[in-house]
Amino acid sequence: MTRFAFALAALIAVSPAAFASELSLHVKKTATCGCCQAWVDYIKAAGHKVETSNMDIGSLTQHKMKLGITPQYASCHTATVDGYVIEGHVPVEDIMRLLEEKPDAVGLSAPGMPAGSPGMEMGGTYREAYDVVLVMKDGTSKVWTSYEARD
Ligand code: CU
Ligand code: CU
Repeated sequence: MTRFAFALAALIAVSPAAFASELSLHVKKTATCGCCQAWVDYIKAAGHKVETSNMDIGSLTQHKMKLGITPQYASCHTATVDGYVIEGHVPVEDIMRLLEEKPDAVGLSAPGMPAGSPGMEMGGTYREAYDVVLVMKDGTSKVWTSYEARD
């Protein structure tokens, strides 16, 4: 009985943190984009909730621009979470750190479609070097995380 009560108390103590780390993202993409779906599956596998909606490419491009994702930062899909934009194949660790540090910014982008980024796996461990950047509200950016090339 005592041991059970202790276990229960420990469980309750742990729960709020577990809930706080579960994110709820909304992803806009085109219907035929396979790598977009692969990224969505990757985020879900990391334990987060993802809603998706499909748009035609023209509307999606306008949507990106409206959010502050100008062409040099653009990728395929555009996600939003807690007031931030997540553009393209951004690793989940970068999103978690963004939401911890909460910088005054538009959000994160992995511009283009870097090979070997989440959802852009090439079948092995191969990865081209790429940067995830923090896109600022004035249109500039800074490097958030640099990923090294890998064979
Ligand atoms: Cu993609
Ligand atoms: Cu995509």
